[in-house]
Amino acid sequence: MELSTVKAVVTGGASGLGRATATQLVAAGARVALLDRAASAGADVAKALGPVAAFTPADVTSAEEVTAALEAAARHCGGLNVLVNCAGIGTAMKTVGKSGPAKLEEFTRVIQVNLIGTFNCIRLTAPHMAKNAPTADGERGVVINTASVAAFDGQIGQAAYSASKGGIVGLTLPVARDLAELGIRVVTIAPGIFETPLLGTLPEPVRASLAAQVPFPKRLGQPDEYAALALHIITNVMLNAETIRLDGAIRMQPR
Ligand SMILES: NC(=O)c1ccc[n+]([C@@H]2O[C@H](COP(=O)([O-])OP(=O)(O)OC[C@H]3O[C@@H](n4cnc5c(N)ncnc54)[C@H](O)[C@@H]3O)[C@@H](O)[C@H]2O)c1
Repeated sequence: MELSTVKAVVTGGASGLGRATATQLVAAGARVALLDRAASAGADVAKALGPVAAFTPADVTSAEEVTAALEAAARHCGGLNVLVNCAGIGTAMKTVGKSGPAKLEEFTRVIQVNLIGTFNCIRLTAPHMAKNAPTADGERGVVINTASVAAFDGQIGQAAYSASKGGIVGLTLPVARDLAELGIRVVTIAPGIFETPLLGTLPEPVRASLAAQVPFPKRLGQPDEYAALALHIITNVMLNAETIRLDGAIRMQPR
């Protein structure tokens, strides 16, 4: 798909990896809707990106809110042919910690936002994409999901986060198979450690220690490097049903 024809919804588009992707899409001539929580910086980010961008607030876990936000996004963009799922949350909780067993509510919340939220956005965006006239290759849409290297080498305290991201890796092939008949591709990016507001909450020594664990290049990833891969996936029609690690070869240690 050519970038200038892109009409994208970017979930989590108000911050970090989603924001960088929305910014590069706009620079490439796309129209973009930022789907993020009402309390996020989405309105300000959309304003800074100019009139081709709009903020369509929703919680990714809500069927009603996402349905309404996608309708608004399709109106703004003139249809939808790209979904980039970046909305996500982290948590740290040991299965049995100092204060006893992990809270089931916390485990459920992370699965709800990261895994079920991703599937909710895919299932509700695909019918919009199905309305598109196909390209010469028969393509009507592209879905990009965001897992994490924690899907493969989750650390101590990451049971909920790793399970949520492993679920995204797991759904990539079956959803790509489901949507193939509509001409919609599904590709997942599994980032290593990227310098975003999500990571900015960690103290500098912890960030430096994480960066030192990356074989090469020995630094944290930049959101623009994630965005560059997302834009490549959109343009390369042969990429489908794959999870791509983007991680400088890091294999995370237990802690
Ligand atoms: N930063 C990293 O090192 C890293 C590594 C691997 C994977 N990831 C994943 O990349 C994605 C983006 O992370 P980031 O680092 O840019 O984080 P971020 O906190 O900067 O951005 C996440 C965005 O998601 C939004 N969001 C959270 N819950 C939501 C909900 N219920 N509904 C709608 N929007 C919601 C937030 O408001 C925020 O704007 C996440 O899925 C994260 O798990 C990040």
